[in-house]
Amino acid sequence: MSAVSDIKSVAVPAQEMQKQKEYTQLVRAIVEQRFTDAPKAFVHTYGCQGNVSDGERLKGMLEEMGYLMTDELEGADLVLYNTCAIREHAEDRVFGNVGALKAMKNANREMKILLCGCMMQQEWVVEKIKKSYPFVDIVFGTHVIHRLPEFLYYNLRGGKKIREYPECDGVIAEELPVHRDSDFKAWIPIMYGCNNFCAYCIVPYVRGRERSRDPKVIIDEAKQLISQGYKEITLLGQNVNSYGKHPDYGMNFAALLRELNSIEGDFIIRFMTSHPKDCTFELLDTMAECKKVAKHLHLPFQSGSNRVLGEMNRRYTREKYLELLNYAYKVMPELSVTSDVIVGFPGETYEEFKETVTLVEEAKFTSMYTFIFSSREGTKASKMPDPVSREEKGRWFRELLDAQEKIAAKRTASMVGKTYRVLCESVSKNGFIEGRTEGNIIIEFPADKSVIGSFREVTVTESLTWILRGELN
Ligand code: SAH
Ligand code: SF4
Ligand code: F3S
Repeated sequence: MSAVSDIKSVAVPAQEMQKQKEYTQLVRAIVEQRFTDAPKAFVHTYGCQGNVSDGERLKGMLEEMGYLMTDELEGADLVLYNTCAIREHAEDRVFGNVGALKAMKNANREMKILLCGCMMQQEWVVEKIKKSYPFVDIVFGTHVIHRLPEFLYYNLRGGKKIREYPECDGVIAEELPVHRDSDFKAWIPIMYGCNNFCAYCIVPYVRGRERSRDPKVIIDEAKQLISQGYKEITLLGQNVNSYGKHPDYGMNFAALLRELNSIEGDFIIRFMTSHPKDCTFELLDTMAECKKVAKHLHLPFQSGSNRVLGEMNRRYTREKYLELLNYAYKVMPELSVTSDVIVGFPGETYEEFKETVTLVEEAKFTSMYTFIFSSREGTKASKMPDPVSREEKGRWFRELLDAQEKIAAKRTASMVGKTYRVLCESVSKNGFIEGRTEGNIIIEFPADKSVIGSFREVTVTESLTWILRGELN
């Protein structure tokens, strides 16, 4: 594990970034020569917001190289899948989708297929690609995304296949171009990697060690976005509560939040994910004090059983978790808490699972992401005996969903008649405008499209269990 004082050396050197800018121009020249109209790039990102944020940088780089982004796979000149390795299902989908590209590649040999992201940081995955999907042009891991221009250049010039996924504690590449998917909601990664090694989790293996971005860079990025009219900024990291562990930074996460809160303008700050072991009363007090910080806390608990939490290496107890929540609800009565939970961790018994259900009943989550344990190669949990069948785990999973559904329904029902400030986001499938409350609850209401991208006051008229329906004030 890197010593804290080494963290600065993780910055990609300026000469390296300069070299990539030169490759960008070389690719651009090739592209302009080969295509009469700008070639189309289809970029699809799987997984968490951190990966989505990487995806925006990959698109930014491709645009600088002369590509035009498209939402249509059909007819694309370049297909890039930015993958996720968190669960087997996520990986299976990628393998399926890559397999389906073979016919497209056969019909158009000039089409380029690129794979990157967390899956591609694993040796066994790259071996499988080499063996079963040799038609893939470029495979690159999470630590070298800034080298996309170089990879593309060598492939476009001489058809060189690239498989590049160096073992590394991780880097920070600043000043990459960003193609933001939205013009009113923005992601700002504040840290990368993870040091926690929860027994089930692949992230520390594929994302390297925890490293924080310089607060000055983060604050400047936020100021710039707000001056461009962005209304919501979401700070990203696998464990934002441990932000800032660097001798030169002098700013922990709570202090960073206060700095961002003091920026002039009408906007809202969100963040994810918080780890209970590092979530402090200071942070909760700061959330309560800071008007622009959304009263929403995503605080994954994973299990309600202390024995299972210990096996998971989560380093907190059920009691500590509930104490944090009680304090949070005390200082922010309107707080909305969401969480993640794993059902069927190896060796979990039904009685232990029931402790998860009782925790859910006590915690009063607004919503919850529930996952059935998925064994990840190389993690500690993958070597633990796992006697409970998938069917049995499926039954537990549904039991948990039923418990949470009742709680969510009660919560949304208690919101009927009240008015909330909502950031209007999109048109829903049924033609309503869809937005989110500060607590991150979706609300739909009839309105004109012109409200999208602005804050509006909306009164809740109906509860639909997980979401709300309302009307504009
Ligand atoms: N850093 C975050 C979680 C990131 S992964 C945290 O510590 O809370 C998002 C969620 O995926 C996790 O909270 C966990 O609930 C789930 N998850 C991770 N690995 C998993 C696995 N092997 N099987 C099932 N769910 C998993
Ligand atoms: Fe995975 Fe745990 Fe790190 Fe979250 S804190 S990314 S669950 S290892
Ligand atoms: Fe998936 Fe990687 Fe995020 S494994 S959840 S994309 S950090």
